[in-house]
Amino acid sequence: MTAFATPSFFFREATLQINTDKERRELSGHLPAHVGIIMDGNGRWATKRGLPRALGHRAGTERLRGIIRLSSDLGIRALSLYAFSTENWKRPKNEVDALFGLFMEYFTNEVEELHANGVRIRMLGDVDGLPANVRAAVRAAEEKTGRNEGLRLNVALNYGARAEAVRTIRAFARETAAGTLNPEAIDEQLLLARLDTGGLPELDLLIRTGGEQRLSNFLLLQAAYAELAFVDTLWPDFSDALYMGALRDFAQRSRRFGGLQ
Ligand code: FPP
Repeated sequence: MTAFATPSFFFREATLQINTDKERRELSGHLPAHVGIIMDGNGRWATKRGLPRALGHRAGTERLRGIIRLSSDLGIRALSLYAFSTENWKRPKNEVDALFGLFMEYFTNEVEELHANGVRIRMLGDVDGLPANVRAAVRAAEEKTGRNEGLRLNVALNYGARAEAVRTIRAFARETAAGTLNPEAIDEQLLLARLDTGGLPELDLLIRTGGEQRLSNFLLLQAAYAELAFVDTLWPDFSDALYMGALRDFAQRSRRFGGLQ
């Protein structure tokens, strides 16, 4: 299969072709280095069509390809996707199973192509709490792509910002108790470095599709200075053109980081 090749039945690519070279030139210096996306609305997308919710998640998964390709082509350095939260375990077992089935499928079938395009995959969240087969598939994807230098694709699986904070604080506590870390050495820089996103560029833009205006425990500390974009469109309908629109809107914003300039 060639790079980012023919989409499957469910993959509804935007008809509008985007000239990424032109966009990249025009928005040069004004694109976010790191985009986060809360991909909401899969269930409603399916229900509106009289389909089972699992098919909404499948349609949502098919949308990843275009968004990843556009991010990569534009030179965005990192893209973080909220795929499964620590709260999503509360969903009916058949929906959780369907999501894990999709993760397995995705990390088995798409990795080769992502790898060929230089994408480096990393998980955010408590991977150890995932079923063994999913854990193995995501670890293999991280391992295979770990030396790539293109887009940093971060998939939040079994992720919650509060759980991430607890894991990080526990690690600090263990190290201070063992005498290997001086509590006074813990500063904002070290804290950010030790979160799941350590080493990634600062989160610049956080997009949520599906019409709700909340962060739902996603990257709360990382979002401290992120620009927020709430989009009414349900995730499976979030086209490349709509993504491009959110990026153009970001490029217009004046960011002051608490200062006055
Ligand atoms: C929220 O929509 C979406 C999720 C809980 C799952 C998001 C997952 C995907 C798009 C698949 C990602 C796949 C990979 C491989 C990374 P919802 O079900 O809460 O929608 P609703 O608000 O309409 O019910």
